[in-house]
Amino acid sequence: MCGIVGYIGNGNVYDILINGLKRLEYRGYDSAGIALVSESGDLNVYKTVGKVSNLENFCAGKNTDAKLGIAHTRWATHGEPCDNNAHPHFSEDGNLAIVHNGTIENYQLLKDALSEHGCKFYTETDTEVLVQLIEYIKNENKCELIDAVRSALKQVIGAYAIAVVEKNNPNQIIAARKSSPLVVGIGEDEVFLGSDGTPFVEYTKDVVYVKDEEIVIIRRGEPLKLVDFDNKESKVNVDRLQLSISQLEKGGYPHFMLKEIFEQPITLTDCIRGRVVNAGEHVMLNGVFSNIDKFKEVNRIIIVACGTSWHASLLGKSLIQDMCQIAVEVEYASEFRYSNPVITDKDIVIAVSQSGETADTLAAIQIARQKGAFVYGISNVVGSSIPRETDSGTYIHVGPEIGVASTKAFTGQVMVFTMLALSVAKIKNTLSDETIRTLVNWILKIPSLVTETLNLDDQIKRLSLIYTYARNFMYLGRGYSYPVALEGALKLKEISYIHAEGYPAAEMKHGPIALIDSEMPTVIIAPKDHLYEKIVSNVQQIKSRGGSIIAIVTKGDTVIKELADHVLEVPEVPECLTPIITSIPLQLLSYYIAVNRGKDVDMPRNLAKSVTVE
Ligand code: F6R
Repeated sequence: MCGIVGYIGNGNVYDILINGLKRLEYRGYDSAGIALVSESGDLNVYKTVGKVSNLENFCAGKNTDAKLGIAHTRWATHGEPCDNNAHPHFSEDGNLAIVHNGTIENYQLLKDALSEHGCKFYTETDTEVLVQLIEYIKNENKCELIDAVRSALKQVIGAYAIAVVEKNNPNQIIAARKSSPLVVGIGEDEVFLGSDGTPFVEYTKDVVYVKDEEIVIIRRGEPLKLVDFDNKESKVNVDRLQLSISQLEKGGYPHFMLKEIFEQPITLTDCIRGRVVNAGEHVMLNGVFSNIDKFKEVNRIIIVACGTSWHASLLGKSLIQDMCQIAVEVEYASEFRYSNPVITDKDIVIAVSQSGETADTLAAIQIARQKGAFVYGISNVVGSSIPRETDSGTYIHVGPEIGVASTKAFTGQVMVFTMLALSVAKIKNTLSDETIRTLVNWILKIPSLVTETLNLDDQIKRLSLIYTYARNFMYLGRGYSYPVALEGALKLKEISYIHAEGYPAAEMKHGPIALIDSEMPTVIIAPKDHLYEKIVSNVQQIKSRGGSIIAIVTKGDTVIKELADHVLEVPEVPECLTPIITSIPLQLLSYYIAVNRGKDVDMPRNLAKSVTVE
């Protein structure tokens, strides 16, 4: 949530910061702002409600000359989105400006204490309190900015990535992080800051992933310096950024979401690449292979995640239970962290997160580690916090996902769970070699079967017109199709703002069936699997109550075709692989309904891609 950018160097500071903010808009887009320090030391701050394009319009004709700057795109936590609450925030004497991603939990306490010393506050934000505190310490102690920042952060409880600049100093940016991401890009005679590497990918691939409680001192003409809150210097480790500029562009598609849906044959190929071994005999994930004993002896697996990643985790549970005969539980990370969970060192906790930065999932990892569990991460963003906080893990390798609604990350996560279950089954000998070989062969065919499924695009586009103005939707599935129903409903609600409920199909008769009438369309995920006959009865129950049905069925289905109002036929695959195929038409259906309704598909209201606050 919230994106921050910074730059010091000889380039065009304003352009670099604005372009950087546009890349980070997926993190929040309710307001944006920029602080620029000119060669003569003037500190100019411009900020406005709305997207970065509004900020650009606002800045037109203003003085944007600068030697360094920091900028911010906001997802509001404290105070409504408005010009005044937008970042950067000033200290009271106007000498300091700050941008902040995260939340200061003890801000009220600090605010009260500062008020007693006569500080005045002009915004509703927690961030303003931090910059006032830094200024207060700096003035009281007549110290350097870096010392004031160190001292202030010692008093702060919460999560933050911050960058601070001061008037009359066109040569220094101070930044710091705790529980919110911060990456430094090192170029020739220039240094960049970002919530991730996207703002500066075209300038440098040399990056430093800032660690928790590290302060970054960026001074023109001097090497980058990292210190802790006690001023102890730490080594600067430079990594390579694994990102290319073309991955950040729409490539001719009207929206990132559509591009990402259509990318899935490629992203699934990338996800599988190098993991199928012995000429297709089996798959092996390195993270599993290098921890064979842990997986052999595991007592129980607990999967923690949020949102779409939680839906992928429900599928992970079925895959691992079915293939490896290990007991699996799936928990919302936000509930797990406060549930006093019973965990032993015989348990494995798997944390799943596309962004690798979700605050609740990170907190769940910390608890699992404290209790002695081996923690395994499944993530997409290389170098993000979750892969660094876990004992081992697997990247899904689907490339940057920019559309806020997750699509290719979901199928990548499910594919990784499939390969993880097969790897563990191989180690534990819970599946025959023949079964593993057959499933591996199917896995290799999945990318082309996804391509075939994407041919439904036109049919779904037409179908979407019939349902554009529906006010409610029900999504039903059983077994492997139940998490797909949950995911389908989530996709629809988050981008079209239509109320949608996902349910296990058989649960419907215990209550939700009361909602069924001609105004309530139901999407039923009904591929040919061992529960097919059962779901046919559920279809009949809805039909006899006047509900209309869109069914996702296996090619050649005749029974549901007779009953449903619309069928979308998908290629036949083994039951455990159906979710990757059946989720594709649901992604397209939500996309087109949202587009028909004129919604901002890539940046739906109130949402952000990376949820770094509780
Ligand atoms: C929905 C969506 C969210 C995320 C959730 C967790 O389309 O993207 O529900 O899945 O916020 O995010 P990650 O996977 O980054 O931990």
